[in-house]
Amino acid sequence: MNNFTFYSPTYFVFGKDTENETGKMVKRFGGTKVLIHYGGGSVVRSGLIDRVKASLDAENIPYLELGGVKPNPRSGLVYEGIDLCRKEGIDFILAVGGGSTIDSSKAIAAGTVYDGDFWDFYCGKYIENALPIGTVLTIAAAGSEGSPDSVITKEEGMYKRGATGDAIRPKFSILNPALTQTLPPYQTAAGITDIMAHLYERYLTNTTEVEVTDRLIEALMMTLIHEGPRVIENPNNYDARANIMWAGMMAHNNAVGVGRTQDWNSHDIEHELSALYDCAHGAGLAVVMPAVFSYVMNHDVTRFAQVAVRVWGCKMDFYHPEVTAKAGIEALRSFLISLGMPKNFAEIGAKEEDIPQLVDVLCNGNGRTGTLNGFVTLNEEDCTAIYKLML
Ligand code: NZQ
Ligand code: ZN
Repeated sequence: MNNFTFYSPTYFVFGKDTENETGKMVKRFGGTKVLIHYGGGSVVRSGLIDRVKASLDAENIPYLELGGVKPNPRSGLVYEGIDLCRKEGIDFILAVGGGSTIDSSKAIAAGTVYDGDFWDFYCGKYIENALPIGTVLTIAAAGSEGSPDSVITKEEGMYKRGATGDAIRPKFSILNPALTQTLPPYQTAAGITDIMAHLYERYLTNTTEVEVTDRLIEALMMTLIHEGPRVIENPNNYDARANIMWAGMMAHNNAVGVGRTQDWNSHDIEHELSALYDCAHGAGLAVVMPAVFSYVMNHDVTRFAQVAVRVWGCKMDFYHPEVTAKAGIEALRSFLISLGMPKNFAEIGAKEEDIPQLVDVLCNGNGRTGTLNGFVTLNEEDCTAIYKLML
């Protein structure tokens, strides 16, 4: 196991009706004037935003609102939010929604207290300072409620890139699984797929002797395999949603990823798809993961066979471990399809003729230098071959 530091200061409030605690939490973490940031309107239609506002009113905390965050959030609204926060003297950002809303909130929080262009953070500059952020989560997926990361798309060039810094870890996150019951099944499934991807990105490591994190990751994967079909069958299954929601947080606050190298090639390869075609991030990952894993499997057949046996229940073929490894990848593919996720390029609206453009932006755009450096180093030729496997 490698040396590591681990810092996860978010205060979690989990369970039914917990959104009514929002005002108290904002007060506890020092907010005196709040920007409520939200997406395309689901939180308005569900009445959630009214309950959140009532809880702020109860604590006499003034607020402004900025809605309109799109899935795969864009830089334009971030600039608008930064201007608004500076002009109005906002000192706390409250994200009410999913990963896109939280990520947009994090970008505004960092950009408001930074002299330069907030996009610098999405070109590799570490985020040292930000306004405090709180979240009321409405979808189990991105894990942004406990992560130090934010992913934004810059309209010019359609670069979808991430930024990081402990300063943007939420001060608190309110997780009421019942809020996710209004999700369309496709979004529920895309969320489960994203959580599964966060687990695979950590599982695929070149570090040896990491039994504790291997086993934690496997437990979370098995939870998704158990709960995924239950929640698709019955969207009102609170307990299944609760288990998925906490798994989503655990998968991405890095408790299960410490002390080991991680992959993240699948995420980079997917981000170009959701940037260009505006597909759901999880849906893109459903197509990307089996292709990437099949391509890199021979780098460490033992690891792929291990997850196949321990998580997917495949039988170990000691003479041909590659057969077991492949069976595990096929089990993942079948599981995602069974949840309603797409299986190929066409089903997410992607086109073969765009592959050269996708590969160029992926490998060379926005400061990249020709390769992706995850579990396996991938060059342009590799990435082209991987996109072709998705056809
Ligand atoms: O915008 P509204 O109207 O709220 O609708 C949203 C949106 O259309 C809808 N939705 C959310 N909660 C709902 C609901 N509809 C009904 N009922 C509810 N309770 O679902 C749609 C998707 O929302 P979004 O916030 O985009 O989902 P998600 O949480 O999957 O976030 C995806 C974004 O997170 C990034 C992705 O790249 C993508 O841009 N990621 C962020 C990470 C991070 N910050 O740590 C890590 C991830 O790997 C990921 O890359
Ligand atoms: Zn993700």
